[in-house]
Amino acid sequence: MSPAARAAVKTMDDAFEAILKADTNADNIIPAFRRNAPLQPGPALVPVKRYTSRAYHEREKERLWSRVWQMAAHEDDFPNVGDVVPYDIVDKSFVIVRVADDEYKAYYNACLHRGRKLRESRGKSLTELRCPFHGWTWNLDGSLKVVPCAHDYNGLNKEDEALPEVQVGRWGRFIFINPDPEAAPLEDHVGDLASNFEFLPFERRYKSAHVAKVIRANWKVVQEAFMESYHVLMTHPQILTGGANDLCTKYDAFQNYSRAIRCGALEADPMPDWDDLPQDGISRLRHPLTGWIYEDQGDGKVKVTTPRGDSGLFTAFAEWIEGDLKDANPHLCLWVSGEQLKEVRRVNPAENADLMVKAAEKLGEGASAMAINAEMQRQALKAILPEMAESIPDVELFSSIFFTLFPNWHPWGSFNPINYRFRPNGDNHEECIMECMYLTPIPEDGNYEPVREIHWLGADDDWTEAPELGMLAMIFNQDMRNLPYVYDGMKATAREHLRFADYNELKLRHWHQLYGEWVGDE
Ligand code: FES
Ligand SMILES: [Fe+2]
Repeated sequence: MSPAARAAVKTMDDAFEAILKADTNADNIIPAFRRNAPLQPGPALVPVKRYTSRAYHEREKERLWSRVWQMAAHEDDFPNVGDVVPYDIVDKSFVIVRVADDEYKAYYNACLHRGRKLRESRGKSLTELRCPFHGWTWNLDGSLKVVPCAHDYNGLNKEDEALPEVQVGRWGRFIFINPDPEAAPLEDHVGDLASNFEFLPFERRYKSAHVAKVIRANWKVVQEAFMESYHVLMTHPQILTGGANDLCTKYDAFQNYSRAIRCGALEADPMPDWDDLPQDGISRLRHPLTGWIYEDQGDGKVKVTTPRGDSGLFTAFAEWIEGDLKDANPHLCLWVSGEQLKEVRRVNPAENADLMVKAAEKLGEGASAMAINAEMQRQALKAILPEMAESIPDVELFSSIFFTLFPNWHPWGSFNPINYRFRPNGDNHEECIMECMYLTPIPEDGNYEPVREIHWLGADDDWTEAPELGMLAMIFNQDMRNLPYVYDGMKATAREHLRFADYNELKLRHWHQLYGEWVGDE
């Protein structure tokens, strides 16, 4: 059947509209949330070679990374004039320099003498850029300042030796660069993305965490695991909030960006009702759909029991040790008995119950679980946003709203601090760098201390080494149980294509349409 002959995509638009109607601050919902832009069916098949082939990586270098706007840094990385941040992408490197209070420039990170990188790490309050090899030195504005033994360079004209620049663009306190001198301005690329952040623009958020990790998989494999919530059913069942079908997310695609709004059940098959688990200090969890109980036994072992009473003992990697039950969910085994966070900010259940009662009382009879959840968060936000808190719509609080700006930046909605960036690990297309930044609301009293450095994790480090990410570190560990194997599977597959869902993978289909336009196929 041709794509045109297929039925229109079934969307969550009407169900989401009903959620907006019930919002306790409906008048303050930004217009962007009422816009529907579903993508019509197709293309659903994407060549596996886009991920696995070196030839595609070379095409990306030539057609994508050397031409596209890319988020390279954040203003919080540059507290002072003269601060310098290198930005590496594939085999290229740039230095971004704060040259004046409100001005940034970006240069190719290479000395014009014999080519040494000018900076391999960040620089603080520099007054010049001096090459560590022989000492050629440039002013922050890129003009050549000093050449040691200048008399030795016959015919060298200082005016011709300014550092070559690349375009810089700024959006929401992020610094973007584009190596293509002919590229249209950043504003054209970003389009109306800002309309989605009207309630709390990025100008009012600061960087409170920045973790980067090397992962053994092509960058697109990893990125795409953070563009849909379809995998929550299998990979993160402990956070299932909606229904047994997980129709919890509304997806839309606009020009160069796409949007997902995950907000609990939109159209739900009811979740089964299970007895409460005992609270006796043992770490244990019930799969919300199957009812299987996962119970930590210490020593990295987990006991799994089904509602019928079958049980088995497994490693944290779901390898069977003993018992009638021979197979278990690997992600829950890992969650319960894998590496745990060293410092966890545990919510006190009694205090939480008290806050819930207060929120429910304030909202009156018949308040929905979503409204109560939103109200609890609103009250918590009062600590930093006393003026704004009462006016925040529920939808900004209870939902996870995540965007993808082509090609590799993923900002989340206003009160969820997550931001992701994915790129190849240098010139190696078989590894990537995944970064998670937290962009937190700037407190109304103006007191905050941004994070200035990147916390690096290697390919074999566990995400729990970054406790500043909180429970997200544990969730990432579950994703890591898939991603290198997704990439291995792509190399092993007998098929030439992957298949994307019409709606749940709408963001991926949209991204690959853009990729087709930028990079194309062989
Ligand atoms: S390579 Fe930079 S001064 Fe020689
Ligand atoms: Fe995930």
